[in-house]
Amino acid sequence: MENFFDKVAGEPIDRVDGRMKVTGKAKYAAEYELPDMAYAVLVSSSIAKGTIRRVDAKAALRAPGVLAVISHENSIKVPAHADNEHPTEPPTGGQPFRAFYNNKVYFNGQPVAVVVADTYERARHAAMLVQVEYDKEKHTTSFEENIGSARIPSQVKKNPKSSLADYDRGEVDGYKKAPVVVEAEYLLPNEMHNPMELQAITAHWTADDKLTVYDKVQGTKPTQAAFAKEWKLPVQNVKVIAEFVGGAFGNGLHQWPHETAAIIAAKMVKRPVKLMLTREQMFYMVGYRPRTWQKVAIGANPDGKIVGIRHEAIGQTSSYEDFTESVLQQTRMMYTSPNVSTRYRLLPLDVSTPIWMRGPGEATGAFALESAMDELAFKLNIDPIQLRLINHTDVDPDNGLPWSTKYLKECIQLGAEKIGWSNRSMKPGGRRSGEWLVGYGMGVGCFGAHRGAAAVRARLMANGTLQFQSAVTDIGPGTGTAMVQIASGQIGISPDKITFQLGNSDFPQAPNQGGSATVATVGSAVVAACNVLKEKLLGMAASAEKRFTDVKMEDVLFSSGQISLKNSPSVGVAYTDILKKENLPEIDIIQDSKPGTEGSKYSKYSFSVHFAEVHVHALTGRVKVNKVVSCADAGTIVNKKTAGNQIIGGVAGGIGMALQEDAVMDHRFGRYITKDFAEYHIPVHADVPHVDVIFIDKPDYIIDPMGTKGLGEIAIIGVAPAIANAIFNASGKRIRELPITVDKLV
Ligand code: MOS
Repeated sequence: MENFFDKVAGEPIDRVDGRMKVTGKAKYAAEYELPDMAYAVLVSSSIAKGTIRRVDAKAALRAPGVLAVISHENSIKVPAHADNEHPTEPPTGGQPFRAFYNNKVYFNGQPVAVVVADTYERARHAAMLVQVEYDKEKHTTSFEENIGSARIPSQVKKNPKSSLADYDRGEVDGYKKAPVVVEAEYLLPNEMHNPMELQAITAHWTADDKLTVYDKVQGTKPTQAAFAKEWKLPVQNVKVIAEFVGGAFGNGLHQWPHETAAIIAAKMVKRPVKLMLTREQMFYMVGYRPRTWQKVAIGANPDGKIVGIRHEAIGQTSSYEDFTESVLQQTRMMYTSPNVSTRYRLLPLDVSTPIWMRGPGEATGAFALESAMDELAFKLNIDPIQLRLINHTDVDPDNGLPWSTKYLKECIQLGAEKIGWSNRSMKPGGRRSGEWLVGYGMGVGCFGAHRGAAAVRARLMANGTLQFQSAVTDIGPGTGTAMVQIASGQIGISPDKITFQLGNSDFPQAPNQGGSATVATVGSAVVAACNVLKEKLLGMAASAEKRFTDVKMEDVLFSSGQISLKNSPSVGVAYTDILKKENLPEIDIIQDSKPGTEGSKYSKYSFSVHFAEVHVHALTGRVKVNKVVSCADAGTIVNKKTAGNQIIGGVAGGIGMALQEDAVMDHRFGRYITKDFAEYHIPVHADVPHVDVIFIDKPDYIIDPMGTKGLGEIAIIGVAPAIANAIFNASGKRIRELPITVDKLV
């Protein structure tokens, strides 16, 4: 096998689209100007549950420039909605919300009408003139008051073998027989999706049965399939463009009501329609990390060896759709425990549907598991690092399989050195710096190392440039940059001669950018395409240079745009000369790639360890995260700069989880009172300290030919508990409810 790892891995090249982004040339979903375009603004419900008695649009329709006011009273029916079919595949069960389908209100902030006008300002003005009368019903939005109604997810009822089903390894509740037991409850609030770019769509019916959308999504092909199904159109009649996405974090992995509203509006006014949510609307209808209650019990021997773990979780969902995530999987595989019991339940409320948010369930679960491990370490008077090492496992205890690769111990060792773990006091409150209490904490993260199927188009041009196309999106990690670099290493063409076009459903198949799988999935297709091009080039090389007659692949090198003989490197022929000789303007191929069967013999995960040094003010309880060190075992690192950026972003998200993010609802109305960045806090630069990023950077060829494993999720998984544990170490206060705000510390 070609050793990609030795050739190009890690080169911190600049983002190929960086210049476009900083100069404003990059176009986002709401930045396409189409002829005769109209603008749409949503009207949202002001009750959390009930029915709409009447939509009074008279005043709005009289307002200047208004083209239509659309509600369930006059909306055309979305074909799949009319049949009461599932318009899109919901994450795991139930029925995604259907815009303007009937008069039912399921959550406060639900779109109940959309106003279309010739300018945005006129649409916004008219939207304020729409009067909606309701018949209110009693709503249920309080998680705490209704936790007794939590139930088994519908997915588990359908499939008892689901990974979300009740799980018992060894003895049920075997932890109870251990001499030392810690048992605690943990709570995460709702955390709202707030990427910098607001959710937006520009919908254009180019013919009666042909739809083009410029949409903020994480997959152009999955979105194309969803809208084709919704509107009962042939897939090729729907085109989805998402060339640039200004952050998404999971929020673009589901079809949301405003998208359907814009598509309906465009069909009804027979003009392209642009719709962008307001920041406030982002809190109501485009998903969030769900409020989750957890209880963890760990039993251990005095020497630190874990005897048993029980981990329960209840996550919030909507009344109409089951959203589930993998909160408990890591508890089954992270530590050697012979006895593990997990229980997962959902609590449906009169709220909108949650959705994956970076490191989705795993980040939630890690907060509880890694906090409980810290509690156990304290109770046993064992260093938290030592406790992890005592319970380290070289096979996956869940399925008995060996890991494809696992460098978790190395991560722990390198991270501990870098943060200065030896400065940590075993006794909480044992270190001070003036008025500040100083503490150190750590948390482990892991996420399945996934790879799917994808295809790319590759065109090697007569002038020596190489162009790729893929339907994949880039929500920020630098996908195009990574793909250019992978291609460069594989075929020996310098990165500035390679382009990678993405974000268009006309391009070859790629799945959603999600679940940390893009580099492994699409990168493998890039490698496969390069290999086909190399075969073709070598097959034709003899016509340009006789000494390449009957030469085999293993006897040649591909670098600097030419093929050369390994044992006489001065004999070479440029790719451009081969194409010229053959009279070919280009070589144009589409190549697909999917994982083989070899991977099924292994358990495949990426791992991370996050270390935090925090200062807690002894009097005021103010918390400053002073330093973070994150060490990741994510296989080959394709680009150290963009990969490092990903970790820093994940750590920022983890600081938000730990200390700031909290969507507070007024349950009298079932409405969030934190609905902008003044009320809903996310980390700013001043909240994020220097983050030291360390990569193990060892390839995992079980996953893919580059040796990469996913990185996006493990960047955040384990950060929140590292900070919570550091706060305990600094102050002696164990806070089990996020976010850890000063009121909980004084
Ligand atoms: Mo991610 S939560 O798969 O965008």
